[in-house]
Amino acid sequence: MANLPKDPALDSTLAILKDGYNFIQKRRRRFNSDLFQIRLMLQPTICIGGEEAAEVFYEPERFTRKGALPKPILWSLQDEGSVAVLDAAEHHRRKQMFMSMMNPASIAKLVDLFESAWREALPHWCGDKSIALLDVANGVLCQAVCRWSGLVLNKETLDSRTTELAAMIDGAGTPGPRNWRGLWLRRRTEKWARSVIAQVRRGDLEVAPDTPLSIIAFHEDDQGARLSETIAAVEWLNILRPTVAIGRYIMFAGHALHVHKPDRQRLLDDDNYLTSYVQEVRRYYPFFPFTGGFVRQPFEWRGHKFAKGDRVLLDLYGTNRDETIWKNAEQFEAGRFLDAEITPFNLIPQGGGAFDTNHRCAGEWITIELLKKASRLLVGAMSYEVPEQDFSIDLSRMPAQPPEGFVIAQVRPSTQTSAPKAATTRKPATAER
Ligand code: HEM
Repeated sequence: MANLPKDPALDSTLAILKDGYNFIQKRRRRFNSDLFQIRLMLQPTICIGGEEAAEVFYEPERFTRKGALPKPILWSLQDEGSVAVLDAAEHHRRKQMFMSMMNPASIAKLVDLFESAWREALPHWCGDKSIALLDVANGVLCQAVCRWSGLVLNKETLDSRTTELAAMIDGAGTPGPRNWRGLWLRRRTEKWARSVIAQVRRGDLEVAPDTPLSIIAFHEDDQGARLSETIAAVEWLNILRPTVAIGRYIMFAGHALHVHKPDRQRLLDDDNYLTSYVQEVRRYYPFFPFTGGFVRQPFEWRGHKFAKGDRVLLDLYGTNRDETIWKNAEQFEAGRFLDAEITPFNLIPQGGGAFDTNHRCAGEWITIELLKKASRLLVGAMSYEVPEQDFSIDLSRMPAQPPEGFVIAQVRPSTQTSAPKAATTRKPATAER
């Protein structure tokens, strides 16, 4: 591109904090261009967005994630030495370790554990009290994913882990006290995770061979060496923490039920509609604003030459809200995905491209299945009232949420028993499986 649009600001770091999720899309519109340059922490950075940009970004081996995230965010999320910062063959082997847990039987087991944990917890939510859906969903998810891993925790440990994992997620997006709290609590979780890995390896803690704990503890690299205790703990936390993060989508699913009013009966009766609803929750609501990387293999796109070492940010949120891809992109339409086609590059809240050979989220299928189950439980297994509260979602807060985490009250169990009609033969809503 002869004239790559450049943001005139000397540095855009503060503007990212101010514009939040809308930062890239706002400038794509302003410059009428899917690529433009900014300075981020004084370093030149190219921002890209849209379906074609995602395709360019997710070309295998083109980018490395090494050094792409500021350290405090990296430490709160994936962490040093994790799958997210590996490249090429090393990445593929480690990613395979994660993907081996994502078969249908294993996912079904996690969903069953989640439903049992939800039904166990439900009586404690009932009565006159108000509860934040975000908080209770986090607790249920933490219990389910620990059991799925092969570990049953007592209540005290479970509560501590839930608080710590939720704090890491809450603190990831913004520098300052929320981030420091997440990092401080993470140290405690890491120490615990290392000791669990050590116990599994010594045989003091028996876990079945197909559980995530066993798979990670005994995973070997190309040279036949096990992961260090520290890296094994980091990778196990890369299962625990993002599964708890699904609590934020469950909160949004509850928010959408209240604010956007999908057909509740159809959510129980029609699996295609339920899947569409869940995909629309993932498309519409904010989670990660963007992902980033450094160019490993130079390439050219729209006339601009991307050189080795250039830093690039891909707009995840703005691509999900891109009106050139999605009709009425700013509207929540529960049935949108009954017709709309999903490609590996247009619906990218958890990254895009291929799972095995790229950095697309390993937990996308888990996220979809747990969200489907949670939506069914919210509609069919309980009744509740939604008290007056602030339902707005501030897009400069990362991660974004309604201020009180979507409060519900007067919870009662209910026994609506409609079974979903068997899914028809249309294509599954995920791009690849
Ligand atoms: C709340 C739901 C989730 C969201 C929004 C989310 C989002 C993401 C994003 C944006 C990426 C990076 C994509 C990229 O840079 O190209 C990612 C990577 C990853 N996610 Fe998730 N994720 C979620 C749930 C999960 C779950 C449930 C798991 C595991 C059980 C998981 C495990 C991972 C792993 C291991 C990676 C690194 C993959 C790689 O580098 O190859 N995530 N996720």
